[in-house]
Amino acid sequence: MTGQAGTDRVLIEQADGVMTLTLNRPDKKNALTRAMYKALAEAIESADADPAVRCILIQANGDMFTAGNDLSDFAEVAAGDGAATQAREGGNPLLMALGRSKTPLVAAVHGRAVGIGVTMLLHCDLVYVAEDALLTTPFVNLALVPEAASSILLPARIGHARAFAMFVLGEAVNGATAAEWGLANAAVPAGEVRAKALAAARAVAARPPSAVAITRALMRDAGAIAAQMQREFGHFSAQLKSPEAREAFAAFAEKRAPDFSKAAT
Ligand code: COA
Repeated sequence: MTGQAGTDRVLIEQADGVMTLTLNRPDKKNALTRAMYKALAEAIESADADPAVRCILIQANGDMFTAGNDLSDFAEVAAGDGAATQAREGGNPLLMALGRSKTPLVAAVHGRAVGIGVTMLLHCDLVYVAEDALLTTPFVNLALVPEAASSILLPARIGHARAFAMFVLGEAVNGATAAEWGLANAAVPAGEVRAKALAAARAVAARPPSAVAITRALMRDAGAIAAQMQREFGHFSAQLKSPEAREAFAAFAEKRAPDFSKAAT
């Protein structure tokens, strides 16, 4: 069966047991808006409810996977916009859907993956990256803190020292290193990432579904993930409204370096 749905910013296709979600906001480097999170979350939830979907593949159009959360959305909350703040209450629907997801997830990453573009990979079961991909989680540079339970999942995957350097120093990891550290299954030439990931997704879709689902559930502590996401969300929300975050977002909008020298601790 094939099918197409979704908003124009998130393309949703279904064929041969694989639901493919394609980030499609290339002019803004696939920065993720609230509408895109909602579309992605609903797609993941619909896949969980549809036995015909055996695997989800996440990929992106344009020259990069994603520049992470839309910084103007963050800036609205930081500036005290009531509607934007209310829309964030209760958490990010994509993160919650990833935390609860039952369908195996595969990711194809090319170009840059920033922030949630990296932390979402920790919820994917198979990850293929371009050799020259660049993964960054610059939460602290934006006066924010990690989300998506990445504060436990990333150090568990790559070790505390590397995770701290990624979170706090914003150190970039290239595709080849990501594969070496176990953040990805393999790094391949950029032109081959999608095909490699699709082949893997189809292979997962062809396996006995109950055995796959049980194996995946046994490998993930969904309760611990949900609890950590909640803990992170409390801090993230508070930081988002902090003077240091306002300075970080203003600096991005004004295309200048942030100045945290006056920030109180
Ligand atoms: N939110 C909103 N808009 C974004 C964005 C984001 N996260 N990332 C990029 N954009 C927009 C830019 O503002 C620009 O818009 P414009 O053409 O209207 O000026 C457009 O996308 C192209 O971005 P640009 O910075 O020119 O592309 P680049 O290739 O030179 O750099 C990045 C790409 C990803 C390195 C850079 O855009 C960046 O650092 N983005 C912010 C990443 C970030 O901090 N994300 C949040 C993590 S928690």
